[in-house]
Amino acid sequence: MLVMILSACGQDAGNESANNGESQDNDDNGLKIGLSVSDLTLERWQHDRDFFVEKAEELGAEVLVQSADGDEAKQLSQIQNMLSQDIDALVIIAINSDALSTVVDQAKAEGISVLSYDRLINGTDIDAYVSFDNVRVGEMQAEYLVEQVPTGKYFLMGGSPTDNNAKLFREGQMNILQPLVDSGDIEVVGDQWAKNWDANEALKIMENALTANKNEIDAVVASNDSTAGGAIQALEAQGLDGKVAISGQDADLAGVQRIAEGTQTMTIYKPIKEIATKSAEVAVQLAKGEEVTADSSINNGTMDVPFIKLDPIQVNKDNLVETVINDGFHTFDDVYKNIPESERPASP
Ligand code: GAL
Repeated sequence: MLVMILSACGQDAGNESANNGESQDNDDNGLKIGLSVSDLTLERWQHDRDFFVEKAEELGAEVLVQSADGDEAKQLSQIQNMLSQDIDALVIIAINSDALSTVVDQAKAEGISVLSYDRLINGTDIDAYVSFDNVRVGEMQAEYLVEQVPTGKYFLMGGSPTDNNAKLFREGQMNILQPLVDSGDIEVVGDQWAKNWDANEALKIMENALTANKNEIDAVVASNDSTAGGAIQALEAQGLDGKVAISGQDADLAGVQRIAEGTQTMTIYKPIKEIATKSAEVAVQLAKGEEVTADSSINNGTMDVPFIKLDPIQVNKDNLVETVINDGFHTFDDVYKNIPESERPASP
């Protein structure tokens, strides 16, 4: 495996003193990391924030967290504001993967290292990228649906059109679907993208798709759980929930509950603790000016970015206990909350 070594240019090298999250003055040498979150209204990112802050604080850094609530302009101004607060490293969960090069260039010019968290930032110099194998996520979603529904009409519910990951998920989905489209087994009857991964947006898209297709849709390739949730609401209104196969991603509590209930077919569990903890470790290393190692790289149009790549896990009705529950991501009681006790599997 290719081993890439990158050297960081952060400040305050060598300082490892613990910090209780109290505000720092400029010359006390405490490590300070800015974490710019795309949208904390989505369940997934709340877990990321919590695990990241916990680990970074354990490693002696203070974290400034801001959520842009899905607003690109807000994310830009929040990052600019962080740059004026004496941070040593900047961690970004990008809303628009193509709209952050200027502010990242500015951070780099000020000697602040930048980590691209989960979503790749394109067109600029990035110190590290920590994410899952996102093409594989899309493949796993389509593979599972195709097992359940080998022939029929498929609707594609893409994620946010500005999110680089949404494009990678689609690439993976089509790796599996295209040969079946070519053989005539599967027909793709529609393809839409839900702005900001918004559930209401997905609800409207699904309502229109059902009307346009006279309710004749056999499977929905939804790219995550929030959009799956919106689509399932539209299916439910037509009495089709549980009858149309539908994918998801993130193992959100609502998503895994729907899997237990039978209205959602599968989700992808990406161990959030793993990405958040790894990112916090890398961010602290960058902040200290230490070397970071990555086992692969990904091109962002400007450079081959060192890529710390993690593996996603496929979750369906039969493996809820051995995946998200055994991993402590959700409790057994929460997942099976709406299922009568007599119909639940054995509690671990
Ligand atoms: C993607 C991320 C997914 C999902 C989605 C919605 O970039 O990889 O796991 O959370 O954003 O926020």
